[in-house]
Amino acid sequence: RKLENQSMIEAHKLAANFYSHLLLNTVEGEKALQYLEQRGFSREHIENYGIGWSLDDREVLSQLLQRKKFDMKEMEQAGLCIMKNDGTGYFDRFRGRVMFPLHDDNGNVVAFSGRILSDSKEEAKYLNSPETPIFEKGRLLYNFHHARLNVRKTGKVILFEGFMDTISAERAGIMNSVAVMGTSLSDTHLTKLKRIANQLIICCDGDNAGWEAARRFAILAQQKGLDAQIALLPGKMDPDEYITTYGGEAFAEKVIGNPHSYMSFTMAYYKRSKNLSHENDVLQYIHEVMEELAPKVSPIERDLLLRQLNTETGVSAEALREQLTKTVGKIA
Ligand code: GTP
Ligand code: MN
Ligand code: MN
Ligand code: MN
Ligand code: MN
Repeated sequence: RKLENQSMIEAHKLAANFYSHLLLNTVEGEKALQYLEQRGFSREHIENYGIGWSLDDREVLSQLLQRKKFDMKEMEQAGLCIMKNDGTGYFDRFRGRVMFPLHDDNGNVVAFSGRILSDSKEEAKYLNSPETPIFEKGRLLYNFHHARLNVRKTGKVILFEGFMDTISAERAGIMNSVAVMGTSLSDTHLTKLKRIANQLIICCDGDNAGWEAARRFAILAQQKGLDAQIALLPGKMDPDEYITTYGGEAFAEKVIGNPHSYMSFTMAYYKRSKNLSHENDVLQYIHEVMEELAPKVSPIERDLLLRQLNTETGVSAEALREQLTKTVGKIA
C-alpha cells in the first residue's frame, strides 16, 4: 500500500467510527437503528459490519476531518467530501444514509455505500463512494477480506449481486460469500476468486435483472475456468428476502445446497419466457437451448439434455438427437 494513501485510509477509519457512533449512541441515529432492526439486524451484527449513520447535516463529517487536520482537497479525492460551489469550503458526500463500510483485502475501510431509509423514486437507493486511489469498483468484492479464509477452506465461494445478501447469508451462518458492488463481474474479480476457490456458486436476485446478471456471471466464470453453478430463487425474491421469509436453514439447503449446472440453468433461463403448450414456443425453446449448449456439453450432458428436452416438450428423442447433430455441425 502506497504511503501517500495512508491519510485517506485513516480518514475512512475515522469516518466509519464517527458514523457508527452516530447510529448507536445518538438520538439522531434512532430512526436508522429502527430501520436496521426491522430488517433483522441485531446490535452485534451492526457492530460487526461497522454499520453507521450519516447525519442529515451538510457538513458534520467535513468539519470533523478539518478539525483533525486532514487535507481537505485530499478528502475530496477520497470521496468523503465535496467542495462547495463558491469554493468556500466543503460539505459531506453522504447525508441521511445508513452507512456500510467497504473494506479492501487487508480489512481497511476504503469506501462506503450509503442506503436511504425509505425506498423513494427521487433519490438513488444506494450511493457509493466514487472511484478513488484506494477504491476500485472493478477490484473490490464486498466481504472478501472476511470470507477469504472460509473460501479457502471449502474451495467454494458464493457470489451475490447485493452486499445486503452477503450480510444476510452470514447471519444465516454461510461464511463464504462475497458481492459485487453494483457493477459487472470483472476479470480482476474472477482472478481474485480463482486464486482461493475452484467452485463458484452464483446467486442473483430472482427478478429479470438478476437472471440476466446470473447468466453473464456464469459465462464469465466459465471463460475463466471456474466451475460455476447457479442457485435460483423462487419468484422475484432476492437472497435476503428469501432468508427473511424462509430462514437461513432453508436457504442453505434448498437454494445454496441445490445449485443448477450451467446446462440446467440455461434450460431454465430459456424456458422462463415460454409456454411449452404452444408449438411456436417449443420450437424456439429447443432452438435456443441447442444453439447455446450443443458446442459446450459433454457426451453425458448431451444425453441428459436430450432426455430432458424429450420430457419437457414431448418431441421424440430421435428427432431431438438429429437436430442436435445438425446444430453441432452448423456451429463447428
Ligand atoms: P436492499 O433493497 O437494501 O435489500 O438492497 P439489495 O441488495 O436488494 O439491492 P438491489 O438488488 O436493488 O441491488 C443490488 C446492488 O446493486 C446493491 O447492493 C448496490 O450495490 C447496487 N445498487 C442498487 N441500487 C443502486 C443505486 O441506486 N445506486 C447505486 N450506485 N447502486 C445501486
Ligand atoms: Mn467474523
Ligand atoms: Mn436487484
Ligand atoms: Mn436485491
Ligand atoms: Mn434486497
